[in-house]
Amino acid sequence: EPTENEPVKRVLLAAPRGYCAGVDRAVVTVEKALELYGPPVYVRKQIVHNKHVVTTLEKRGAIFVDETEQVPEGATVVFSAHGVAPVVHEEAQALSLKTIDATCPLVTKVHREAVRFANEDYDILLIGHEGHEEVIGTSGEAPEHITLVDGPEDVANVTVRDPEKVVWLSQTTLSVDETLETVRLLRERFPAMQDPPSDDICYATQNRQLAVKQMAADCDLMIVVGSRNSSNSVRLVEVALEHGARAGHLVDYAEEIDESWLDGVATVGVTSGASVPEVLVRGVLDFLGERGYADVRPVVAAEESLVFSLPNEIRRDLKAAG
Ligand code: F3S
Repeated sequence: EPTENEPVKRVLLAAPRGYCAGVDRAVVTVEKALELYGPPVYVRKQIVHNKHVVTTLEKRGAIFVDETEQVPEGATVVFSAHGVAPVVHEEAQALSLKTIDATCPLVTKVHREAVRFANEDYDILLIGHEGHEEVIGTSGEAPEHITLVDGPEDVANVTVRDPEKVVWLSQTTLSVDETLETVRLLRERFPAMQDPPSDDICYATQNRQLAVKQMAADCDLMIVVGSRNSSNSVRLVEVALEHGARAGHLVDYAEEIDESWLDGVATVGVTSGASVPEVLVRGVLDFLGERGYADVRPVVAAEESLVFSLPNEIRRDLKAAG
């Protein structure tokens, strides 16, 4: 029973949160590959940027490697949801690997845009985070034509060959607001700059940020479940703080929650990145429930129903296996 000095404790639970269609497809791809071909199945890079997902698949026989050359000749390798540069396909072919491409179709869409504009000899300004796997893959489609723009601070450094023939594209998991700001600054410098044919920041990234924006101002604390290297998860903490959450933390597991974060906290916001299985959110809700935050209210910003079919290689082999 709350006393006078104790806040009325509650949880606001964001929806949508967690798995997007691209992550679901990528994880199921590795599971099906393990069933069809038996372990080990090699996966180039983390299939999705989530610690729990990676360790769970490792236990079932997936072997994660950083470079294609670490895969033994003739073995099966899955490419991660973040996509790969064309040179990686060539490396795999040279080693006679059986490849299964789990690149999210919405990342592939950006690759196609890059190829198309490069063929038309545009300078492509790719807004994204330096070193992120997705950006490395997309840039690899047309290295001669693509310049990385890592946020608003980077705009002043950009040079192009012909300011009349410039287009911007982006990583799929950026902050929507920061990207708008980067684009605004780029357009000040290159007024003729073209927009991408359709949004590159994907529906899942947009919806998870939208839900956080709707609840942030009501939250004394926002807990985002996700891994440090998950771009879209890290963005959710930033968006929460920008929109009025008094504090915000990223955790992989409930056990990482520091009890002191809850001091004087009435409302806790909870959400999770696009690579995060719901079981981890359950863990956080249980942790909070045990500490008096049992009243959980959903904040629904959008409905999602998108599902992607599995990669062709898997569908074909599943069919053949009956
Ligand atoms: Fe794809 Fe967006 Fe998820 S690009 S993997 S749907 S976060």
